[in-house]
Amino acid sequence: MTTDSTEKLLVEGLQELYYTEQQLVDALETLADQTDEESAKNAFSEYRDETQEHVERLEEVFEQIDEEPQDRNDRVVDALIEEHEEFASENDGEVLDRYNIAAGQKTEHYEIAAYGNVTSLAQKLGYDEASDMLAETLREEQSALDELSQAGEQFDQQATADD
Ligand SMILES: [Fe+2]
Repeated sequence: MTTDSTEKLLVEGLQELYYTEQQLVDALETLADQTDEESAKNAFSEYRDETQEHVERLEEVFEQIDEEPQDRNDRVVDALIEEHEEFASENDGEVLDRYNIAAGQKTEHYEIAAYGNVTSLAQKLGYDEASDMLAETLREEQSALDELSQAGEQFDQQATADD
């Protein structure tokens, strides 16, 4: 692959992530508001703050590679949010709490794939500092996924105990 096409993939990948993270700031606020279960609720508001940091970190990454921060519509995150809104409009209580944890996990998986790719592309192009920053976000997404997965398992064990 030529340097030009690698650069194009990196820039477009970053623009999609920049859009995604901005959508997620609002989406996580919604998740925190509508989740009753205390630990999941706290986790969502913590991820909301972390996501705001991810937006700012992406702006620094754009600067590192000499590009203006610009967002690019990402239909995957739009679909994830739309699907969640549909479910949330028809459900509440425990079912919605559990659904919200799953929605968070899906989103983290998507972000992990996207950050894994841009980290590798940045490294390949010799943008070492940008690549290190992206790897830092990638680690944070992975630990958020681990926490959410644990929350989901605990929730299910609790739910079975209540039966
Ligand atoms: Fe993020």
